Amino acid sequence: MIGAVKPTIVENTMKNDVILQVQDLSIVYQTPRGDVMATTDVSFDLRKGETMALIGESGSGKTTLSLSFIRMLPNSARVTKGKILYSRDGVTRDILEMSDNEIRRFRWSDCAMVFQGAQNAFNPVLRVRQQFADTAAAHGKTDKAWIKQRTLELFKLVRLDPERVYEAYPHEMSGGMRQRSLLALGVLLDPQIVILDEPTTALDILTQRAIIDVLKEMQQRLNFSIIFISHDLALAAEMASRVATVYAGEIVEEGSVEDIFYRHRHPYTLGLIRSVPRLSRQQDELMSIPGEPPNLITPPSGCKFHPRCMFASDKCKVDPPPLVEYEPGHRAACWHTDKVAAARIAFAAQD
Ligand SMILES: Nc1ncnc2c1ncn2[C@@H]1O[C@H](COP(=O)(O)OP(=O)(O)OP(=O)(O)O)[C@@H](O)[C@H]1O
Ligand SMILES: [Mg+2]
Repeated sequence: MIGAVKPTIVENTMKNDVILQVQDLSIVYQTPRGDVMATTDVSFDLRKGETMALIGESGSGKTTLSLSFIRMLPNSARVTKGKILYSRDGVTRDILEMSDNEIRRFRWSDCAMVFQGAQNAFNPVLRVRQQFADTAAAHGKTDKAWIKQRTLELFKLVRLDPERVYEAYPHEMSGGMRQRSLLALGVLLDPQIVILDEPTTALDILTQRAIIDVLKEMQQRLNFSIIFISHDLALAAEMASRVATVYAGEIVEEGSVEDIFYRHRHPYTLGLIRSVPRLSRQQDELMSIPGEPPNLITPPSGCKFHPRCMFASDKCKVDPPPLVEYEPGHRAACWHTDKVAAARIAFAAQD
């Protein structure tokens, strides 16, 4: 058992139902070519039981951000600014200030993460049950009867045949079965937060569907919060109650699913949504976002999106737009939100 630790408690300034509060977080990767600014001034709240989706192109900084929540960033990464406050049972701590012992307990017991492409995360030479027992033991839970009962219960919850999977080796299971087992392992110690980084990317569409259904059911039963990272906007819309659009390491828009999909105010969100094919849309109406994501060692001045933005003005090249709240809970960082809104309405009229 990991020894008792004195938690690094901080004053709770968060609203009642907020369990994770990211404040002005900045992260760089130190490389021989210079610092990669992978996360810049990110702030957001995660509430109890909600699902927050992070959407954005490859390289926008989604994985970096979520790795920081469990302090699993690679050695070359430095948090240069900010706080990550975490609250449970009336006690609030800064994850970045936790001791090594505290953070070890925090992982799995408070916050679990299923990584990108994690279907192969199981050790191939150990039976699945052993990997559940090892995880429990690493967190001081050694009661064999409890572990077995909890493991079987979770297999049932993720709709696996409990007895069969309990004795199985990972190679005896399909990709979808392994992904379900991983979800079960993720919630073994009843975490408050589960981070899912592209949880279904490697799976075929029917298996994806089944995993999403299982996830929803698990969340209803166990009431954890989810941070859901996906390239797939339809999946994000289905899973999440709130969505944050990430561009070049910044949150450029955040709001409810309806805000983001039907009332977006940021041109990057507009671009992401317009670039998704729809049955009702002609191929030539599909709009891809021109250009490439920026180099994060020397990002563009002003608004980082301006070189790719159809609404950019001289001001955008110089002044970074602040993240402004337009409706309660709906924030966007753009100098031309009115033009984006007009374009969105014009596009919707064509659909
Ligand atoms: N270990 C590293 N060293 C240097 N730069 C890194 C490292 N890991 C990520 N980066 C850079 O940090 C930025 C953010 O990367 P990150 O992996 O967080 O993006 P992502 O949104 O998760 O992308 P994807 O959708 O492809 O998974 C990118 O510019 C990436 O090249
Ligand atoms: Mg990633």
